[in-house]
Amino acid sequence: MAVQERWATRVGLVLAVAGNAVGLGNFLRFPAQAAQNGGGAFLIPYLVSFVLMGVPLLWVEWAIGRHGGKFGHHAAPGMFDRLGNKRWLKYIGVFGLFTNLTLAAYYCYLESWTLAYVYHSVVGTFGTTDPKPFFDHYLGVTAGSIFAFPREAFFWYSITLALNIFILSRGLARGVELVCKYGLPSLMIFGVILAIRGLTLTTDDPGVVESPLAGLNFIWQPQVEGLLSPKTWLAAAGQVFFTLSLGMGSIHCYAAYVRENDDIALNASAAGWTNEFVEVIIGSSILIPIATAYLGLDAVQSQTSGGSGFAMGFLTLPTLFNQWGWLAPVAGALWFGLLFLAGLTSSLAMGPPVMAFLEDEFNWRRVPSALTFGAGTFALGFVCVWLYPGGSFDEFDFWTGTFSLVVFALAEAFIFAYVFGMDRGWAEITRGADMNVPRVFRFVIKYVTPAFILIIFIGSLIQPEGKWINAFHSLSAGRGWPLSGGSVLGKVLHVGEQGGWFDETGAPTRRLVIDGTRVLLSLVFIGCSFLVWKAWRKKAPGADAARGAESFIRRG
Ligand code: TRP
Ligand code: TRP
Repeated sequence: MAVQERWATRVGLVLAVAGNAVGLGNFLRFPAQAAQNGGGAFLIPYLVSFVLMGVPLLWVEWAIGRHGGKFGHHAAPGMFDRLGNKRWLKYIGVFGLFTNLTLAAYYCYLESWTLAYVYHSVVGTFGTTDPKPFFDHYLGVTAGSIFAFPREAFFWYSITLALNIFILSRGLARGVELVCKYGLPSLMIFGVILAIRGLTLTTDDPGVVESPLAGLNFIWQPQVEGLLSPKTWLAAAGQVFFTLSLGMGSIHCYAAYVRENDDIALNASAAGWTNEFVEVIIGSSILIPIATAYLGLDAVQSQTSGGSGFAMGFLTLPTLFNQWGWLAPVAGALWFGLLFLAGLTSSLAMGPPVMAFLEDEFNWRRVPSALTFGAGTFALGFVCVWLYPGGSFDEFDFWTGTFSLVVFALAEAFIFAYVFGMDRGWAEITRGADMNVPRVFRFVIKYVTPAFILIIFIGSLIQPEGKWINAFHSLSAGRGWPLSGGSVLGKVLHVGEQGGWFDETGAPTRRLVIDGTRVLLSLVFIGCSFLVWKAWRKKAPGADAARGAESFIRRG
């Protein structure tokens, strides 16, 4: 049995879980999503999703995690196996392995850009030239081919991954916790400095065309119209999932290293609210206000309309910083340093669920587990890095960072309330709690959250092109459902796409890269399922007897 690890201190634990949640999602994804969905119109669905789905799911995941940890399971398959006596339960846990491996692969790539950009800010690469050619070259986006190999990007990716694996190999308390204890406060300070500088820009400063406060107003002024738009709700719920690291098996894993009677209710809330503070307050006070000040609100909206915070974060901001004179390299280093620390404290949370699986179920030691996780991530990440221009990265992001987490969360919400049972579930959440969990959450967790996720799930499957109301009209008029190419079914069916795997000249197309990536992701999922099957087959004879004895010893 692997050495039983624990968090060293409670502050460290909360910072580690908050560091897990606070990530690139807070600084790049949130502003882009908010801007794209009408700013203030996004805010109410976002906050409602946070309260009705985010907070309850945090408690559920912490409860499942601590409960699993009691039996020596720190990874999702074993934890889910303990929630009932059905044999299929452990296979739900496959999601907890699959998502972390595939997420780490593409997330570390994004994280490595930020490290490269710290370097380039300091040495002054960006100057006053157009930043786009540099970024394109960096990513391997060239006119001729989708298979150009981006050497510099690959270099930074390797360094980033090696750093992650090194920290992971030192263990939770001496690695992850230590990095988060310094990393999270530092990034918050960086963020506050940038926000203050950004928000105090005035039209007297050279180049400033609008008050940065107009940007803040745009995001923060709540507008009720978003309430009526299913598209906004889907985006808002998706952001809540992603930013809180829900539906990944990652929160579960951190919670599994807590003692049986230690508080989880308050820890979960503290980490969740810290994340919201960083996202809604700090996250919205940098990118959008600064860009608004120099470019005006319209330009900001149109830049994010493709759904991308990347253009704003990696192209616009470094260029704008250059108007700050001597402060430019400092601002660049602060901004990309902040992103790097945010990314690092998050990517460190993706290893433990996979490592814990190898340690608990196959009796591996920590260092080989970390190296194996690193090797798997490296192999998958290689595909992301190399085939980024062909769209591989976006496929990873969609299936792992947008879809898979909803499926997993849907399953866990139902299993928790109806297989594990609400009586035991509530007792698990409140045991040792250092706060009064409002009783209405018992009702919310049992009925509202599962129903909410179910609706989100169905919505993302069949999201139409254009407005939902028009889609229903179209359906009732017998003209069929105008499935969006961005919906899950639309992607599977390749709605609105032309052409095949090879073009007229016989050269491979984006379509080939995209379908190839999907096949790869499916194989990873199947591979993880196989490992779970194997782990339980190994212990199958007398597994129940062992189970009885184990819990006897624990209680004894
Ligand atoms: N919450 C992280 C962010 O905002 C991203 C994330 C999603 C994550 N799922 C995760 C991080 C699982 C660690 C583990 O960027
Ligand atoms: N793809 C979107 C973008 O370009 C948002 C996004 C998706 C994102 N996944 C992310 C941003 C992870 C940061 C981190 O911004």
